[in-house]
Amino acid sequence: MKLNDENLLAAHLISIADGVYEETAARIGEIGTDTVADAVLKEIAWRADHNAPPSQPVTAVFELTHEGKQLDYLMTLGADAPAIGPGALADPWLVVRQDLVELLRAVYGPPDAVIGTRAIALKDEPGPGSFAPDDPWRLARDAAAVAADRIITACRPYPYDLNALSLQFGSDKWGGHWYTQQYAEHFAALRDSRVRVLELGIGGYQAPTAGGASLRMWKQYFRRGMVYGLDYFDKSGIAEPRLQPLQGDQGDASFLHELGSSLGPFDIIVDDGSHISSDVLTSFQALLPYLRPGGLYVVEDTQTSYWSGWGGSSTGTDDPATSIGYLKTLVDALHHQEFEKDSGRADGAFDGWIGALHFYHNIVVIEKRRSVEQSAPSWVPRHTNPMEWMKPKE
Ligand SMILES: C[S@@+](CC[C@H](N)C(=O)[O-])C[C@H]1O[C@@H](n2cnc3c(N)ncnc32)[C@H](O)[C@@H]1O
Repeated sequence: MKLNDENLLAAHLISIADGVYEETAARIGEIGTDTVADAVLKEIAWRADHNAPPSQPVTAVFELTHEGKQLDYLMTLGADAPAIGPGALADPWLVVRQDLVELLRAVYGPPDAVIGTRAIALKDEPGPGSFAPDDPWRLARDAAAVAADRIITACRPYPYDLNALSLQFGSDKWGGHWYTQQYAEHFAALRDSRVRVLELGIGGYQAPTAGGASLRMWKQYFRRGMVYGLDYFDKSGIAEPRLQPLQGDQGDASFLHELGSSLGPFDIIVDDGSHISSDVLTSFQALLPYLRPGGLYVVEDTQTSYWSGWGGSSTGTDDPATSIGYLKTLVDALHHQEFEKDSGRADGAFDGWIGALHFYHNIVVIEKRRSVEQSAPSWVPRHTNPMEWMKPKE
């Protein structure tokens, strides 16, 4: 399993956007200015198109400069699908001028990338109040102003509201469920990082082009992230830059090991797949080793752990074969240093790797962290009531 060419390029662009100006400029030269300009403009157009695009088509002119040369491109927003290609216009509604290195850094660079070369110009009105609000000239200019705003927004780090993104992309992580509020809390610190996100369960079941709502939401939220989705069914129809669908069974441990060793380590893994307890356990046990320390593993829809048809139980709620029953055992992994030496407890597979557990209604967030903090000193009694032990000896 490997990244496709489009995603190899995206990953490379994200990594070179971190460099000092001269290094980034040299890497752009190696890749080819047209290839870089095309990929960066496609990313801008994707972000803008998924952020309330203008109500009528607007063709913006991009005048990009790199090492003394100018590259002219056209980007149309507000049409059925955004269009990008080399070209120029005599009298454009909207012109964006920018140095290519800075444009790349603005789109894929760290949040503190200083941008000093951008100029954006809208067509000037011939005179004050020349056009009534419903005049076609005024409407076209208003649309160009919206396009300018979406382009600027696409070129800067900003806190997308995850609840709003979920609604916008049609994911049920907000509305059907109420998970994006928990995601916002746990993912905020990673928002501008070069994360690799893997979600189990793409959505849309058998249809190859259906689904992918949450994957697109992650792509918009993690502007420097690579997003992978795994589904039992073929979902090749939803592939796009920074979003790669994979086909396989989340209940097949050897397949998951292959996936983890070829595409991992991941920073975030979300299980929104079958929600059958045995699959949830197999995926967690197989994939946790491929989550980087400090990463987050999320299990959604844990209500199914109480439903017998899904491999759960409403009576045997501590049964480690159910997803919640198993996740409860991680509380012991978190405290593995605290067991009495003669307790007879066998070491758990993830002792020393559970940093924190957050149980919310129907969703659990597991922080993977090295956790080998020592217990209390050995002279602190374990088998004796401390009040007894502290009493003065008679
Ligand atoms: C609830 S949908 C995912 C929705 C998506 N994550 C979202 O939020 O937009 C569940 C998906 O899991 C997939 N699925 C079911 N069993 C699976 C398995 N054993 N392995 C991988 N995917 C599976 C289904 O095909 C379906 O597309």
